Amino acid sequence: MGSYNHQDIEALVLGDDLIFCVLSNVKKGAEKTFIKADVKPVVLKGELHYQVSKYDTQKVFHENLSPQGLVSYFEEVLGHYFKQAQFYTKKSDLQVLFNKRGEGTVLKKPPTRFAVDLSHNRKKQYLIPEGEACDFMQALGVMDSEGKVYKKMYDKFRQLNKYLEFVEDVLPYLGDEITIVDFGCGKAYLTFALYYYLVKLKNRAVKIIGLDLKQDVIQFCNQIAVQLGYDGLSFRIGDIGAFDYEERVDMVVSLHACDTATDEAIGKAVAWKAKVVYAVPCCQHELFNQLENNEMSLLLKHGVVKDKLATIVTDTLRAQALEAVGYQVQVLEFIDMTHTPKNILIRAVLSDKSEEQKKLDYEKYQAFINAWNVRPRIDKTLAVFFPASHKPE
Ligand SMILES: C[S@@+](CC[C@H](N)C(=O)[O-])C[C@H]1O[C@@H](n2cnc3c(N)ncnc32)[C@H](O)[C@@H]1O
Repeated sequence: MGSYNHQDIEALVLGDDLIFCVLSNVKKGAEKTFIKADVKPVVLKGELHYQVSKYDTQKVFHENLSPQGLVSYFEEVLGHYFKQAQFYTKKSDLQVLFNKRGEGTVLKKPPTRFAVDLSHNRKKQYLIPEGEACDFMQALGVMDSEGKVYKKMYDKFRQLNKYLEFVEDVLPYLGDEITIVDFGCGKAYLTFALYYYLVKLKNRAVKIIGLDLKQDVIQFCNQIAVQLGYDGLSFRIGDIGAFDYEERVDMVVSLHACDTATDEAIGKAVAWKAKVVYAVPCCQHELFNQLENNEMSLLLKHGVVKDKLATIVTDTLRAQALEAVGYQVQVLEFIDMTHTPKNILIRAVLSDKSEEQKKLDYEKYQAFINAWNVRPRIDKTLAVFFPASHKPE
């Protein structure tokens, strides 16, 4: 429980973090015009605004405010008119209660709502904008020296930026010195983007190791890293399953690494107690020939449907297995379908979940495994992290 500070609310509105808000509990003695109000972001003529809906007993009145206008509205009513506010933000849920003197206390909880993507209506503000020179984008052939994105690289440019938006969300979980392992980095567009973003735009001290099986690709990436003076970025040849690293690892990334390589990456991340795990799985074949379920046999009848189902079951199990070893997991769309259908992002953040909760999560995971009668690779890579006491009798 902390004290309410108007500047914190201002920062979350201006920082584009507010997802929804409900104001209620009108102060005794206030001239009662509305009994409740809620606030949601909307896009008007390409710009972010907030729609404030004010309720009386019969009707609802809408007003659209700029972010700064909303900050002023909050200043006017919070503690003076409404005694209670519930903020849903990208990073946390905040319940604020005001006493008679207008002093507020804040109860902070993990976030329960996800932001609605308004980007299709909004002038896109990319984290690495077009029109400004960017050394790694130029070196990798995404932009020219004036920052103009090459037409054929536009999808890649959008993908890199989208990826960084997802990374931005987890920055509060990472410290100022961050070590990251990027498994199956390939030509490493995303690895360079991550380094650039954290070091140049966010001023963090960062060490990133990219790992891949391909010698020529690793050689190329190391050359570019040296050429750009990216001292904390290096690349190694190797197989994920055989990779050892003795020091602390804060974040593990595995983007489009093939089939069960994702499970190996998750296994390493959990063993290192990495605070953050990003996995975008790709070409899951493992469960296709294992799935069995008499009640759901129609889902297994047509190869195309069964293939999609195998992917969904695999990713559901990966997400739930991470829950069972103590992570808070989100499954998100990585990039839109026009670029590639490989669009599931499993984003996991290590939490202080109780043993009891882990046990419940493990039981759900085990029940799902039993329902489909499968033995996925994730069950093997995480086996040692599921304590025996968690397993059902
Ligand atoms: C499709 S590429 C993705 C590259 C990059 N991560 C991206 O998303 O743009 C997959 C990469 O994973 C690498 N890979 C697959 N299995 C691997 C393993 N077991 N160990 C290391 N690298 C692996 C492949 O060599 C390939 O370069």
